[in-house]
Amino acid sequence: MIGRLNHVAIAVPDIAAAARLYRETLGAEVSEAVPQPEHGVTTVFITLPNTKIELLEPLGPDSPIAGFLERNPSGGIHHLCYEVADIRAARDRLMAQGARVLGDGEPKIGAHGRPVLFLHPKDFCGTLVELEEA
Ligand code: CO
Repeated sequence: MIGRLNHVAIAVPDIAAAARLYRETLGAEVSEAVPQPEHGVTTVFITLPNTKIELLEPLGPDSPIAGFLERNPSGGIHHLCYEVADIRAARDRLMAQGARVLGDGEPKIGAHGRPVLFLHPKDFCGTLVELEEA
């Protein structure tokens, strides 16, 4: 059911420093920082030949990654995003198998303008999983 690894998301306390690290030290292709107030984060995308890295910095007082950064002050891997062909069919299949979908279970438009859902980390090997309709 799951397809390509769309991105690995890394939460960081300082997105400018993290973008510089990827651009200058690692020599990667790095986007500008984009504030996404509706998601409570600022994002930078790093394009690799086979996938992307999504850097996330908290934005605003109710950022969904604030707690993660309190527990991981120097940053860390926050979630993995897998592509699916039909996000509602994927959700129904997962819920029928007892997996928990975060929020109200309805896909939301994510940082790439595509429908996304998040799955409970306790159901997936301790890893927060994002599904994105490709
Ligand atoms: Co993501």
